[in-house]
Amino acid sequence: MTLETFSSWLDATPISEAIKASGYIIPFAQSLHILSVAFVFSGAALLVARDFGRWGTSEPLAAWAAPLIARQRLALAVLVLTGAVLILAEPTRELVSRVLQVKVVLVALAAALAVPLARRQLAGRSAHGLSVALLGLWGVIIFAGRWIAYAS
Ligand code: HEM
Repeated sequence: MTLETFSSWLDATPISEAIKASGYIIPFAQSLHILSVAFVFSGAALLVARDFGRWGTSEPLAAWAAPLIARQRLALAVLVLTGAVLILAEPTRELVSRVLQVKVVLVALAAALAVPLARRQLAGRSAHGLSVALLGLWGVIIFAGRWIAYAS
Protein backbone atom coordinates (compact mmCIF):
# COMPACT_ATOMS: atom_id res chain seq x y z
CA MET A 1 0.00 0.00 0.00
CA THR A 2 1.45 3.40 -0.97
CA LEU A 3 1.15 6.51 1.17
CA GLU A 4 -1.31 7.93 -1.38
CA THR A 5 -3.65 4.93 -1.20
CA PHE A 6 -3.36 4.85 2.59
CA SER A 7 -4.23 8.55 2.87
CA SER A 8 -7.20 8.11 0.48
CA TRP A 9 -8.43 5.21 2.62
CA LEU A 10 -7.98 7.31 5.78
CA ASP A 11 -9.83 10.20 4.14
CA ALA A 12 -12.93 8.01 3.68
CA THR A 13 -12.99 6.60 7.23
CA PRO A 14 -15.95 7.58 9.48
CA ILE A 15 -13.64 9.41 11.93
CA SER A 16 -12.13 11.57 9.17
CA GLU A 17 -15.61 12.24 7.75
CA ALA A 18 -16.88 13.19 11.23
CA ILE A 19 -13.99 15.63 11.82
CA LYS A 20 -14.55 17.25 8.42
CA ALA A 21 -18.32 17.50 8.95
CA SER A 22 -17.98 19.09 12.40
CA GLY A 23 -17.66 22.84 12.44
CA TYR A 24 -15.67 23.05 15.66
CA ILE A 25 -13.24 20.09 15.94
CA ILE A 26 -10.64 21.53 13.52
CA PRO A 27 -10.47 25.07 15.01
CA PHE A 28 -10.48 23.54 18.52
CA ALA A 29 -7.61 21.16 17.66
CA GLN A 30 -5.69 23.99 15.95
CA SER A 31 -6.10 26.26 18.98
CA LEU A 32 -4.93 23.53 21.37
CA HIS A 33 -1.99 22.80 19.03
CA ILE A 34 -0.91 26.46 19.10
CA LEU A 35 -1.40 26.78 22.88
CA SER A 36 0.75 23.69 23.41
CA VAL A 37 3.41 25.09 21.07
CA ALA A 38 3.52 28.15 23.34
CA PHE A 39 3.94 25.92 26.42
CA VAL A 40 6.70 23.77 24.91
CA PHE A 41 8.66 26.69 23.47
CA SER A 42 8.37 29.07 26.41
CA GLY A 43 9.19 26.22 28.82
CA ALA A 44 12.29 25.36 26.79
CA ALA A 45 13.31 29.05 26.77
CA LEU A 46 12.92 29.25 30.57
CA LEU A 47 14.99 26.08 31.00
CA VAL A 48 17.76 27.65 28.90
CA ALA A 49 17.56 30.84 30.97
CA ARG A 50 17.75 28.79 34.20
CA ASP A 51 20.68 26.76 32.87
CA PHE A 52 22.58 30.00 32.28
CA GLY A 53 21.62 31.33 35.73
CA ARG A 54 19.35 34.08 34.36
CA TRP A 55 16.00 32.95 35.78
CA GLY A 56 14.52 31.12 38.78
CA THR A 57 17.83 30.95 40.61
CA SER A 58 16.23 31.41 44.04
CA GLU A 59 15.30 27.69 44.04
CA PRO A 60 17.49 24.63 43.41
CA LEU A 61 17.44 23.63 39.71
CA ALA A 62 15.78 20.23 40.24
CA ALA A 63 12.86 21.60 42.31
CA TRP A 64 12.40 24.54 39.95
CA ALA A 65 12.53 22.46 36.75
CA ALA A 66 10.28 19.54 37.84
CA PRO A 67 6.82 21.17 37.38
CA LEU A 68 7.93 22.88 34.17
CA ILE A 69 9.17 19.61 32.65
CA ALA A 70 5.92 17.84 33.69
CA ARG A 71 3.87 20.52 31.91
CA GLN A 72 6.07 20.33 28.84
CA ARG A 73 5.53 16.57 28.63
CA LEU A 74 1.77 17.10 28.87
CA ALA A 75 1.91 19.80 26.17
CA LEU A 76 3.91 17.47 23.90
CA ALA A 77 1.30 14.74 24.35
CA VAL A 78 -1.43 17.27 23.41
CA LEU A 79 0.61 18.27 20.34
CA VAL A 80 0.85 14.66 19.16
CA LEU A 81 -2.89 14.12 19.76
CA THR A 82 -4.07 17.35 18.12
CA GLY A 83 -1.54 16.83 15.30
CA ALA A 84 -3.16 13.44 14.64
CA VAL A 85 -6.61 15.11 14.55
CA LEU A 86 -5.32 17.68 12.03
CA ILE A 87 -3.91 14.87 9.87
CA LEU A 88 -7.23 13.01 10.04
CA ALA A 89 -9.00 16.20 8.93
CA GLU A 90 -7.03 16.30 5.66
CA PRO A 91 -5.04 13.08 5.23
CA THR A 92 -4.59 13.37 1.47
CA ARG A 93 -2.88 16.77 1.87
CA GLU A 94 -1.03 16.23 5.13
CA LEU A 95 0.43 12.72 4.92
CA VAL A 96 2.11 13.26 1.54
CA SER A 97 3.62 16.58 2.66
CA ARG A 98 7.44 16.29 2.79
CA VAL A 99 7.51 19.16 5.30
CA LEU A 100 5.15 17.29 7.65
CA GLN A 101 7.23 14.11 7.28
CA VAL A 102 10.43 16.00 8.17
CA LYS A 103 8.61 17.74 11.03
CA VAL A 104 7.48 14.44 12.57
CA VAL A 105 11.07 13.10 12.43
CA LEU A 106 12.30 16.33 14.09
CA VAL A 107 9.61 16.03 16.81
CA ALA A 108 10.82 12.47 17.52
CA LEU A 109 14.42 13.76 17.68
CA ALA A 110 13.41 16.60 20.01
CA ALA A 111 11.50 14.20 22.28
CA ALA A 112 14.57 11.93 22.37
CA LEU A 113 16.88 14.88 23.24
CA ALA A 114 14.48 16.07 25.93
CA VAL A 115 14.96 12.83 27.89
CA PRO A 116 18.68 13.22 28.80
CA LEU A 117 18.16 16.97 29.28
CA ALA A 118 15.32 16.42 31.77
CA ARG A 119 17.35 13.70 33.50
CA ARG A 120 20.26 16.12 34.03
CA GLN A 121 18.10 19.02 35.15
CA LEU A 122 16.04 16.86 37.51
CA ALA A 123 19.34 15.71 39.02
CA GLY A 124 20.22 19.37 39.58
CA ARG A 125 22.87 19.55 36.83
CA SER A 126 22.69 22.10 34.03
CA ALA A 127 23.25 21.16 30.38
CA HIS A 128 23.96 24.33 28.43
CA GLY A 129 24.58 22.82 24.99
CA LEU A 130 21.66 20.40 25.13
CA SER A 131 19.13 22.97 26.34
CA VAL A 132 20.14 25.49 23.65
CA ALA A 133 20.09 22.77 20.95
CA LEU A 134 16.60 21.70 22.03
CA LEU A 135 15.28 25.27 22.03
CA GLY A 136 16.66 25.72 18.49
CA LEU A 137 15.09 22.45 17.39
CA TRP A 138 11.65 23.48 18.73
CA GLY A 139 12.08 26.71 16.74
CA VAL A 140 12.77 24.75 13.53
CA ILE A 141 9.74 22.52 14.25
CA ILE A 142 7.51 25.59 14.70
CA PHE A 143 8.76 26.94 11.37
CA ALA A 144 8.08 23.56 9.70
CA GLY A 145 4.59 23.44 11.23
CA ARG A 146 3.68 26.78 9.73
CA TRP A 147 5.37 25.92 6.43
CA ILE A 148 3.18 22.84 5.80
CA ALA A 149 0.37 25.08 4.57
CA TYR A 150 2.59 26.69 1.91
CA ALA A 151 4.61 23.73 0.61
CA SER A 152 2.95 21.40 -1.87
C1 HEM B 1 3.98 14.29 16.13
C2 HEM B 1 3.56 15.48 16.53
C3 HEM B 1 2.90 16.49 15.61
C4 HEM B 1 2.07 16.29 14.54
C5 HEM B 1 1.57 14.98 13.98
C6 HEM B 1 1.73 17.62 14.03
C7 HEM B 1 0.91 17.85 12.94
C8 HEM B 1 0.52 19.09 12.49
C9 HEM B 1 -0.40 19.35 11.41
C10 HEM B 1 -1.09 18.27 10.60
C11 HEM B 1 -0.51 20.69 11.27
C12 HEM B 1 -1.39 21.44 10.25
C13 HEM B 1 -0.54 21.89 9.09
C14 HEM B 1 -1.34 22.57 7.99
O1 HEM B 1 -2.16 21.91 7.36
O2 HEM B 1 -1.13 23.76 7.77
C15 HEM B 1 0.36 21.31 12.25
C16 HEM B 1 0.53 22.67 12.40
C17 HEM B 1 1.46 23.24 13.20
N1 HEM B 1 2.28 22.58 14.11
FE1 HEM B 1 2.26 20.59 14.48
N2 HEM B 1 2.35 18.56 14.79
C18 HEM B 1 3.08 17.92 15.76
C19 HEM B 1 3.87 18.50 16.72
C20 HEM B 1 4.21 19.83 16.74
C21 HEM B 1 5.19 20.44 17.61
C22 HEM B 1 6.01 19.66 18.66
C23 HEM B 1 5.24 21.76 17.31
C24 HEM B 1 6.11 22.84 17.92
C25 HEM B 1 6.66 22.84 19.10
C26 HEM B 1 4.28 22.01 16.26
C27 HEM B 1 4.04 23.25 15.69
C28 HEM B 1 3.09 23.51 14.73
C29 HEM B 1 2.79 24.83 14.19
C30 HEM B 1 3.45 26.16 14.60
C31 HEM B 1 1.76 24.66 13.25
C32 HEM B 1 1.08 25.74 12.41
C33 HEM B 1 -0.26 26.01 13.04
C34 HEM B 1 -1.06 27.06 12.30
O3 HEM B 1 -0.48 27.94 11.70
O4 HEM B 1 -2.30 26.99 12.36
N3 HEM B 1 3.66 20.81 15.94
N4 HEM B 1 0.96 20.32 12.97
